[in-house]
Amino acid sequence: MENQERIRVLSGIQPSGNLHLGNYFAMMKPMIAAQESSLLFCFIVNYHALTTVHEGKILRQGTLDAAMDFLALGLDPEKAIFWVQSDVPEVQELTWILSCVTSMGLLERCHSYKDKVARGLTPTHGLFAYPVLMAADILLYQANIIPVGKDQKQHVEVTRDIAERFNFLYGDTFVLPEPRIDPHVAVVPGLDGQKMSKSYGNTIEIFSDEKILRKRIMSIVTDPTPVEDPKDPDKCTVFKLYSLFATPDEIRMLAEMYRRGGTGYATVKEMLFQKVSDHFKPYRQRRAELAGDRAAVEKILAAGADKARGIAVKTLQKVRRKTGLAYRKS
Ligand code: ADP
Ligand code: TRP
Repeated sequence: MENQERIRVLSGIQPSGNLHLGNYFAMMKPMIAAQESSLLFCFIVNYHALTTVHEGKILRQGTLDAAMDFLALGLDPEKAIFWVQSDVPEVQELTWILSCVTSMGLLERCHSYKDKVARGLTPTHGLFAYPVLMAADILLYQANIIPVGKDQKQHVEVTRDIAERFNFLYGDTFVLPEPRIDPHVAVVPGLDGQKMSKSYGNTIEIFSDEKILRKRIMSIVTDPTPVEDPKDPDKCTVFKLYSLFATPDEIRMLAEMYRRGGTGYATVKEMLFQKVSDHFKPYRQRRAELAGDRAAVEKILAAGADKARGIAVKTLQKVRRKTGLAYRKS
């Protein structure tokens, strides 16, 4: 009963590479916080990752790694529903049904598809239909709030459009979801100043080895302003990343150091390294324990899939009745 009354918060993450600071601030952190007051649906979207990962071994390992990252950071499988997308294959049936009420134009307008193709990805049918699968993910669980980064805003809007069209054709069926985007972390910059993304090779990973972490941070691209000269904090990736971890006082102090001059980028990179390292230190031990107990992680995911499936099946039954796919009287 209690579950039905609480706001449903849902989001997914692709196991297409190691999870990074952009994933953490825009999605993982708000999701983990939401488990306290909402009914949380959190899942690893491995069907979506098939659009870019074509090696079974890598997808399998990426899926487990992403699950371990979430659990290490505090996702509680007792409080939340936590599973792997392909363990609830009902989502594929809903995807097809929704595809039949989704116009080509709606998908043709999706920036994410156009960006990925512009970056050299093969324009497969899967890549094009990606937002319909995402809509099915959301609507299958009747989710209210979708915590995401800015790049996913349009996909949630597409989901609303599809839900509205379905509701118009078949009567009120789906809840209309809303994206939740924190403006401070809507676009976390990567090493090159572009959006941090697994597919751009510009990430700072949450659980990378400390040596690699330092190396990555030292390789953040900065401008050639000499050490003595004043610098503009608002144009600096190191400053933007530092601000994600620091208190308002610390941010003010660093901004003053930039404007005053006399501080080099190597110094602020070292400060950023300390912040990132300290922030994730408490979770490293747990992450290592989980890595050593794959069976326990698999068990958690299987139990989560059972819970998710129970809800998915009910929505799908309703949809089958409304569309006429369920045709028997008995
Ligand atoms: P990636 O682009 O690294 O493959 P995903 O597509 O799996 O990441 O995204 C998972 C979640 O993390 C989504 O909600 C997405 O909006 C968010 N996200 C990914 N990168 C960033 C970023 N650099 N800044 C803000 N949010 C991000
Ligand atoms: N498309 C999202 C991304 O690339 C991942 C995703 C799949 C998702 N299904 C979802 C996010 C449902 C929120 C809700 O980041």
